[in-house]
Amino acid sequence: MADRKNFGSKLGVVLASAGSAVGLGNIWRFPTEVGENGGAAFVLVYLLCVILVGVPIMLGEFVIGRHTHANTATAYQQLAPGKWWRVQGTMGVLVAFIISCYYMVVAGWTLYYAYASLTGALQYQGDDATYFSDFFDNFVTHPWLPVLFAMLFMVMVHGIIVKGVQDGIERFSKVMMPMLLLIIAVLTVCAFSLPGSSEGLRYLLHPDFSKLSAQTVLNAIGQAFYSLSLAMGCLCTYASYFRDDTNLVKTAFSVSLIDTMVALLAGFIIFPAVFSVPGLEPGDGPGLVFKSLPYIFSHAFASMPVMGYIFSLLFYLLLFLAALTSAISIHEPVTAYLHEVHQMSRRKAALWVTMVSVVLGVVCSLSCGLLGDMKILGMTLFDCFDALPAKILMPVGGIIISLFTGWYLDRKLVEDELTNYGKLRFPLFPVFIFLLRWVIPVAIALVMV
Ligand code: PFF
Repeated sequence: MADRKNFGSKLGVVLASAGSAVGLGNIWRFPTEVGENGGAAFVLVYLLCVILVGVPIMLGEFVIGRHTHANTATAYQQLAPGKWWRVQGTMGVLVAFIISCYYMVVAGWTLYYAYASLTGALQYQGDDATYFSDFFDNFVTHPWLPVLFAMLFMVMVHGIIVKGVQDGIERFSKVMMPMLLLIIAVLTVCAFSLPGSSEGLRYLLHPDFSKLSAQTVLNAIGQAFYSLSLAMGCLCTYASYFRDDTNLVKTAFSVSLIDTMVALLAGFIIFPAVFSVPGLEPGDGPGLVFKSLPYIFSHAFASMPVMGYIFSLLFYLLLFLAALTSAISIHEPVTAYLHEVHQMSRRKAALWVTMVSVVLGVVCSLSCGLLGDMKILGMTLFDCFDALPAKILMPVGGIIISLFTGWYLDRKLVEDELTNYGKLRFPLFPVFIFLLRWVIPVAIALVMV
């Protein structure tokens, strides 16, 4: 593609990729999964999954994207013309699309919470322990408010996507990511000052292995894929905008490290709060972050309400912005696919993706309230859109990517990409190939079966 742009700088590459990885998956989904899967033992398995499964697959995606400089579907087609491997390219686009539809719903919640912080609606120091739970439940079951905020969010994603790779995605990520990391660090310190913090810490640091099962491990793998934006063409598409001198190995390690640190810090912020809020349990599900954090902001700063106000506003604003950088990375593979494969203008391609996501997103949002009785396999549509990619499509995609990179691709091609044609050293290359060939596909398949 003659008009294809790349990211302009090394920092831009890391921050845009970290911007994709760090999002609701870290701050909203990770604590929810930890809470539903029993705490510290899940965290340990999750860390292993990031190192042994996540990083190698991210490298595999980087190799595929950077080598072809094409959207995911074209990338697989170029590397394996006429072979069934190319299904993964198209499947990645599909998974990105499914996630996009429900991601915008939760992102809309964050936008609403930023707005509620601004108006002061989240400042409550009274005695009603269920105030914040009721606040959240009333909001998500409201007939149109969450829909409105989800749509507003999608309009913003659309605006950035049509601006393109450098002026939109890169410029935006460079400002947002450092701000997000700073505010998370400050909040961690605040959370440690809460009365329930030691119990929260014990919950995160003392593993109870009797709580582990194959399902827990599958959930940890799904969470690692989700959090690192793997197996849905996002990072593969971003890598197609990497320059030839980008150090893929360093980038993959930096992105995974930043992503994991943010997830752990989110845990360290949220669980002390959960154990400080009367009536809240770690296993309370998707509302956990929205019910526990406002409590920190109101109660940890009870003597200085202005600080509580500022932190609440900053936090939800930044959570919203983290969701935005991730949402654009989910939008991009589908837009690039329509633009490059179906020869639509970028503007038109983006518009199609936005419009269809919004329609499905609205249904997803309503499934938390008005359409709550509409169930598939006992799950609401919202839960299905979350579970289908994370528990089935991403792990299967992970197996395919690891087999494709480990067995099908020419070993020399993979090594050349990872070492920038001999300019860099990657002594762990044999370990990387071994993991891709044997460990990852077998482990994921076993756990799934
Ligand atoms: N990794 C993002 C997060 O943790 O919020 C979510 C995400 C981005 C999922 C991109 C999938 C994706 F393709």
